[in-house]
Amino acid sequence: MAKESLTITDNRTGKTYELPIEHGTIRTADLRQIKVSPEDFGLMGYDPAFTNTASCKSRITFIDGDKGILRYRGYPIEELAEKSTYLETAYLIVKGELPDKQHLDAWVHNITIHTMVHENVKKFIDGFRYDAHPMGMLVSTIGALSTFYPDANNIFDVESRRLQTRRLIGKLPTLAAFAYRHTLGLPYVYPDNELSYTGNFLSMMFRMTEQRYKPNPVLERALEVLFILHADHEQNCSTNAIRSVASSQVDPYSAVAAAVAALYGPLHGGANEQVIRMLMEIGSVDNVHKRIKEAKAGEKRLMGFGHRVYKNYDPRAKIIKRMADEVFDATGRNPLIDIARELERIALEDEYFVSRKLYPNVDFYSGLIYQAMNIPMAMFPVMFAIPRVSGWMAQWAELVRDTEQKIARPRQIYLGEDVRQYVPIESRPKPESREDAVSAAI
Ligand code: ACO
Repeated sequence: MAKESLTITDNRTGKTYELPIEHGTIRTADLRQIKVSPEDFGLMGYDPAFTNTASCKSRITFIDGDKGILRYRGYPIEELAEKSTYLETAYLIVKGELPDKQHLDAWVHNITIHTMVHENVKKFIDGFRYDAHPMGMLVSTIGALSTFYPDANNIFDVESRRLQTRRLIGKLPTLAAFAYRHTLGLPYVYPDNELSYTGNFLSMMFRMTEQRYKPNPVLERALEVLFILHADHEQNCSTNAIRSVASSQVDPYSAVAAAVAALYGPLHGGANEQVIRMLMEIGSVDNVHKRIKEAKAGEKRLMGFGHRVYKNYDPRAKIIKRMADEVFDATGRNPLIDIARELERIALEDEYFVSRKLYPNVDFYSGLIYQAMNIPMAMFPVMFAIPRVSGWMAQWAELVRDTEQKIARPRQIYLGEDVRQYVPIESRPKPESREDAVSAAI
C-alpha cells in the first residue's frame, strides 16, 4: 500500500523531510521544522483567501465543486429541497440526523416559542433612520441580543448552546421583518405561532389590517425551498467569519453578527441584489451581448456567475431556476427572467466563461423570485441570513467542541521596513517625496 506521507527536499539546505498525510492533507505546522538555521522561524504556507487551506475538520456539509454536488450531513440538496421543510433541515444540520416525528414536533415547538423579541429591541430598531439598510439593522440587532442574554457566554455548556441556537433560529425572521417594516414606517407585526416558519415570516412582512394573514401556499413552499438551499455551505466567507470570531470564545450573538456582516458584502450575500441591478441595467434581451463583452473585457463582472468552489452548475441555482415558473404563476412573471435566461444561454456557450468554469450560482435566480414576491432588493441578503443561521450555529457548535481548535490567528509575510529610528517632525523628508508611500498605505 502507498505510504501516506510527503517527502520534501529543501534545496536551500539539501535536507529531506517526511510529512504525514491525513485525509489528503498535510499540516502546515509540520512545515515549521524546515529551517535554514536554528534561528530561522521555519517554513510557512502562504495562502491569501484560504484557497487551498482547510481551517477545520467538519461533518456538516459536503461540496464537490467540480461535480456540482451539495449535501447536508450526507443528504443530497435536491432531495431535501423536494421532501423536507426548512426547520427539519435545520434540525438535520444542527443535530446531524433527520428527526423522528416526536423530535421534529419538539424542535418546531422549541423554535416557535422563541419567535418573540424583547420589546426593547423594537425601540432599538426605531432608533435607525427610515432609510437604514435592513442588513445594517440586522447586524446591529443580532449583536445587541448578546446584551439581552448574558447567559449566552456559557459557550461550553451544551444546554446554553442549544438554547441560543433555538433563540437565534426563532428570532431571525422577526428581526428581519421588523427591519423591513421600519423602512416603510409600518407597525411591526408580531409573530403568529399558528403559522409555519415561512408562513409566519410572510405574515410579519406583509400583514396589513386583516385579522389573520393567510400566506399563499406556493410562496410559502418556495420560501421553504429557498431557506433549505441557503441553510449551510461549509467554509464560505461568513462561516469563516463566525468560526474566526467565535474562536475568541465570544458569545454566539456577537459571532453571528460578524457572520451577518460578512454576508452583507456584494461578493457574498449581496450578490443577488447586484444581479437584479445588473439585469435592470441591461434593460432588454438585445443588450445582453454588450454586457457579456464588458464582462470578458474585465470591466464589469457578471453578477451571479462564478463561485470559488463550484466549477460546475451550482446545484442550488438549478433548483431555483426550475422553481421560478411556479412562483411566477402565483405572482405574475418577472420580466427580468428573459434577460437572465438569455444571459445564461450566451455565457454558457462563450469560451471565456466555459474555460474559466463560470456558471450561474445560487444568487443568479434567487433575486428574481424574491422580487416577484414583493421583497425589496435591500432585503435580499437578509433573506440569505435568516436560514443561514442554522448553518452558522452548527458550525459554531462544531468549533466550540473541537479540541484541536484555538483562537484563529494567521501568520503574515512581513514585507515592511526594517527597524528605523524615530525622526523629529522638523527633520522629516519634504511632503512630495513621501506622497507615494503615504498614499500607497491607505
Ligand atoms: N464575471 C466575469 N468574470 C469572472 C467572474 C464573473 N462573475 N467571476 C470570475 N471571473 C473571472 C475572473 O476575472 C478571473 O479571470 P482571469 O483568470 O482571466 O483573471 C477568473 O474568472 C477567476 O476569478 P476569481 O476572481 O479568481 O475567482 P474567485 O474564486 O476568487 O471568485 C467569486 C469567486 C467572488 C464568486 C467571483 O466569481 C465573483 O466575483 N462572482 C460575481 C459575484 C457573485 O456572484 N458572488 C456570489 C457568490 S455565491 C455566494 O456567495 C452565495
